[in-house]
Amino acid sequence: MSMRDVKICLLGESGVGKSSIVMRFVADKFKNALESTIGASFMTKTIFLDDSTYKFQIWDTAGQEKYRALAPMYYRGSAAAIIVYDVTRETSFHAVKGWVHELQRHGPSKIVIAIAGNKCDLEDLREVREKDAQEYARDIGAIFCETSAMTAVNIAELFDAIARLLPPE
Ligand code: GTP
Ligand code: MG
Repeated sequence: MSMRDVKICLLGESGVGKSSIVMRFVADKFKNALESTIGASFMTKTIFLDDSTYKFQIWDTAGQEKYRALAPMYYRGSAAAIIVYDVTRETSFHAVKGWVHELQRHGPSKIVIAIAGNKCDLEDLREVREKDAQEYARDIGAIFCETSAMTAVNIAELFDAIARLLPPE
């Protein structure tokens, strides 16, 4: 039974649901009106998967522009990054591409990248087609899933997929 510490950070525009994804994953809770994150917040969660134990050390960064310059402190040294966009906000999907470029240029060379299209419960308000995001993720070799922190769809699966893709230590 192996045991791994996995440093992971969440990136993405303000309001896309980064903190909500973390809260769903760590505490299985959801809040309708969550405070925007200040600076960053840190949480841990341990999962058991395929005879291994993964202790996720999760840095939930603040999406507001004024905190932009802090991001490298959190993605440096991360084994994985979850870049979140909101399926009801096209601009938040464009921002994903900016984060991918930044990680490719300045992030750890073997970082596992996952792209999460959150708020997939809001189908009527959708602006980003699942297929477009899926194709983009495939092109850059990223994990992709649509998630809902509200309904819990694909939240545990997202972290499982990351654990499975981590390079051997
Ligand atoms: P910053 O901390 O400012 O970077 O934002 P954030 O990305 O952490 O977003 P946050 O988790 O605070 O969520 C923003 C708002 O979206 C909150 O009011 C949440 O309740 C709502 N929200 C988050 N995830 C979902 C979801 O899956 N579905 C729906 N319908 N609403 C969501
Ligand atoms: Mg937040």
